[in-house]
Amino acid sequence: MTRRAVVVGTGHYLPERVVENAEFEATLDTTDEWIRSRSGIERRHFAAEGETTSDMAAKAAERALADAGLTADDVDAIVVATSTPDLTFPSAATMVQSKLGMTKGFAFDVQAVCAGFVYALSNASALIASGQANRVMVIGAETFSRIMDWTDRGTCVLFGDGAGALLLEAQEQPGTNADRGILATDLNSDGRYKDLLYVDGGVSTQSTGHLRMQGNQVFRHAVEKLASTANTALDRAGLSAADVDWIVPHQANIRIIQGTAKKMGLSMDNVVVTVQDHGNTSAASIPLALSVGKERGQIKEGDLIVTEAIGGGLAWGAVVLRW
Ligand code: UT7
Repeated sequence: MTRRAVVVGTGHYLPERVVENAEFEATLDTTDEWIRSRSGIERRHFAAEGETTSDMAAKAAERALADAGLTADDVDAIVVATSTPDLTFPSAATMVQSKLGMTKGFAFDVQAVCAGFVYALSNASALIASGQANRVMVIGAETFSRIMDWTDRGTCVLFGDGAGALLLEAQEQPGTNADRGILATDLNSDGRYKDLLYVDGGVSTQSTGHLRMQGNQVFRHAVEKLASTANTALDRAGLSAADVDWIVPHQANIRIIQGTAKKMGLSMDNVVVTVQDHGNTSAASIPLALSVGKERGQIKEGDLIVTEAIGGGLAWGAVVLRW
């Protein structure tokens, strides 16, 4: 038998304020048509004044606990993937821990920008497989609206805020690729590409900074690296793209999502797409899409799912799991 990290609950939270593409036409040299056709984004949510990453993360986690029929006392660890924590420290994860009323276990953040959730899932799976935790709440939560340069039309129209959570539980499975749970992961980074996507501020440079991106350069790396990491993870699980029920990709750009599916030989009928309603929510985009995909009735128990993401670093990776 093999100890696997099986998803037993999902939840998500989106801030109340919805911003349609057309709103940007008042302040920027842009159009709804450009944003829609170049990125697939139609609207996004922005956090309210004073609403923080850990507030949203805690709400998503509460919903995942309710979905699983469990309480915070049943959780051993919290991992939050974020690049936009409330404070420099303590971690957003410990703030979530306190908001959930959880007084035991451990909590920490993972920072791998848009690939953060894939990195966090991989870490959580290892914690479970090694017996260090039985239940891990894995959350992706971001307030990217706080790091936008509102005069840069090439970036500020693309990002949004939100949070998604998966509750993972250790379950003994037969040890084959028909098991439920996380079956394989693949993580990569290449720091030589730092200048393609970064924030031009931080603690040791004493500013908050704004997101800077050479979008078309990131785009070029994305399709190739995403298809490659997804295929590597599938290969590690002894599976291939033909076995996949759903790709649940990082939701940055519909053209990247389509290009990756095509490169893997899969139809868009096998892809969960939320980018039109959420924009790019960085580390929150995959758990948001998983939670929404389950709500829509797309994702069902036993489905084989591949998640993949790429972002600043560059950092990228994929996780293969059976729901
Ligand atoms: O999540 C982390 C990873 N990030 C990504 O995966 C994002 C990857 N990149 C992308 O999604 C796309 O590259 C973008 C959506 C950012 C841009 O699409 P593109 O087809 O690569 O356009 P481009 O950057 O090559 O720009 C084309 C033109 C430029 O004008 P010129 O130089 O051709 O005259 C831009 O200035 O579009 C212009 N442009 C805009 N026009 C209207 C850029 N932003 C806008 C805008 N409205 N908002």
